[in-house]
Amino acid sequence: MRVTGSVRAEERAPGGVELGVESFETLQLAQDYPITPKEHGTAFLMDIRHLWLRSSRQHAVLRIRSEIEQACRDFFYDRDFVLIDSPILTANAAEGTSTLFETDYFGEKAFLSQSGQLYLEPAAAAFGRVYCFGPTFRAEKSKTRRHLMEFWMVEPEVAFLEFDGLQELAEEFIECIVDRVLDRCKEELKTVERDVSKLENIRRPFPRITYREAIELLAKKGLPAKFGDDLGGDEETVIANAFDRPVMITKYPAAIKAFYMQPDPQDPSLALALDMIAPEGYGEIIGGSQRIHDHDLLLQRLKEHNLPIDRFQWYLDIRKYGTFPHSGFGMGIERVVAWMSGASHLRETIPYPRMLNRIYP
Ligand code: 4AD
Ligand code: MG
Repeated sequence: MRVTGSVRAEERAPGGVELGVESFETLQLAQDYPITPKEHGTAFLMDIRHLWLRSSRQHAVLRIRSEIEQACRDFFYDRDFVLIDSPILTANAAEGTSTLFETDYFGEKAFLSQSGQLYLEPAAAAFGRVYCFGPTFRAEKSKTRRHLMEFWMVEPEVAFLEFDGLQELAEEFIECIVDRVLDRCKEELKTVERDVSKLENIRRPFPRITYREAIELLAKKGLPAKFGDDLGGDEETVIANAFDRPVMITKYPAAIKAFYMQPDPQDPSLALALDMIAPEGYGEIIGGSQRIHDHDLLLQRLKEHNLPIDRFQWYLDIRKYGTFPHSGFGMGIERVVAWMSGASHLRETIPYPRMLNRIYP
């Protein structure tokens, strides 16, 4: 329907304005619209995701997403970062070989990118501060409310930034995003009935605990976690509930982290890794680290992880021709959208979610 009229301010109207209709023209007589005021199951709504997008709650969540994405771009642009678009078709794994989507590249094996990080590191050598922002892919063979097969990640990488500076950058970034959503998404937050007092509380500095302290905290709360275990969703939630702001967990055992992480100088069995866990049970929103900048150590780690050295030659080159300490992180957009909008499942935080056994529509 095409409606013509004049807009006037009206305090009592939901959006603050009303349209005085002068004429209208029917473009199509739509019948039997599948979404009715009655309750629908999520599986049904996911099948008609292309129509569900018109519902007020979906509308609000995706507007919040759009605002967050713009906030990310503005944050890095304002700080002189150069945007480096990383490739989606890649020849090597970045985050472990168990979640790779493999495809054929003219007879050669190729993978959908799990992270732009490895391509950003050479760019940091060239430009100093860089970031990438794009879709990333993980064949996560588990069905959880926090995992998608295709998700968007924003990743900064900074030359000469070391571990303390990395934590400062991460908390400044998150504080800035929360402020922006509170400032510009007031209507949307109301629509999704978000308790904004919880978000107004998000102020730097964020609490920082080591992985060892996280394990101790879990033990105190009666969970059977022991040093060396990976922290799963349930553990993350217990840790998050001990704080009212995002918590940064640092210095994980190198054995449970990616091959490229710089060892802790005080205890080389630990990695200078950083995970930031959102409050209220929304899970890990940031993963990052200082990177190994010594050529021989990196080569040794590639071998230990059984990664094909020939495919990482270009990555090793960065450590061969003028190496430098550097750090970076990745933030998953959907996790942050879920946290800001109070969505309990990531499927509502992206227009067309790709989940285990779901690629339609
Ligand atoms: O912790 P991750 O795996 O870190 C990296 O990929 C690094 N290479 C990033 C870097 O240092 N440049 O992923 C980063 C973030 C996680 O903290 C989480 O927010 C999100 O990406 N994430 C996912 N979001 C939705 N679905 C999935 N399957 C996700 N896997 C990771
Ligand atoms: Mg991680």
